[in-house]
Amino acid sequence: MPPPARVLDSPPMPQPQPRPAANPAPRPIALELDCLAATERLAQRLAGLARPGDVFALTGALGTGKTAFARAFVRALTASEEEVPSPTFTLVQVYEGRSGPIYHFDLYRVRSEAEAWELGIEEAFAHGISLIEWPERLGALLPKGRLELRFAQVPGAEEARRVELVAADGWSERLHALGLDQGAAG
Ligand SMILES: Nc1ncnc2c1ncn2[C@@H]1O[C@H](COP(=O)(O)OP(=O)(O)O)[C@@H](O)[C@H]1O
Ligand SMILES: [Mg+2]
Repeated sequence: MPPPARVLDSPPMPQPQPRPAANPAPRPIALELDCLAATERLAQRLAGLARPGDVFALTGALGTGKTAFARAFVRALTASEEEVPSPTFTLVQVYEGRSGPIYHFDLYRVRSEAEAWELGIEEAFAHGISLIEWPERLGALLPKGRLELRFAQVPGAEEARRVELVAADGWSERLHALGLDQGAAG
């Protein structure tokens, strides 16, 4: 009788190794903005380090201070008396800032990525500083290297807002330079 066929051990299956995420989700920096002036100071500080190609994505419900932030930001790079209306209906307002154009978008009424494209986002993202309210409307067109500011109301405090900064690669060092990663808004 032939010896029983040897059952060869099957080679070990390669086990999937947990891989570190290429870009781990950045930790949001939460800041308290006790009054409009605090929001304006934050805008001025960020405007001071903004450069062409930067994209600031401003999220948050109506009335949380996105336009107020953008207004102070634009004024810091133009003139303190600059008229900065909400682009609710025009969808975009363009300003000539110290380091080139500043594009202030409000995409609330934009219904498609194609419509956003027609507003000139490509040019803005390449050469300007972009401040975008309702950036969610851009879907995949929203640049990865953005700084996101998530504004929210503070229950029971009419004049206070809370903002979370979510920094893409390259932003962390700049926020560190401002001391913002220590949670100091003022
Ligand atoms: N801490 C604060 N930061 C920003 N805005 C504030 C603050 N406190 C009160 N406000 C008021 O809240 C309103 C914010 O409106 P706006 O900036 O147009 O909001 P959004 O663009 O998010 O809809 C303004 O009337 C502003 O004066
Ligand atoms: Mg607004």
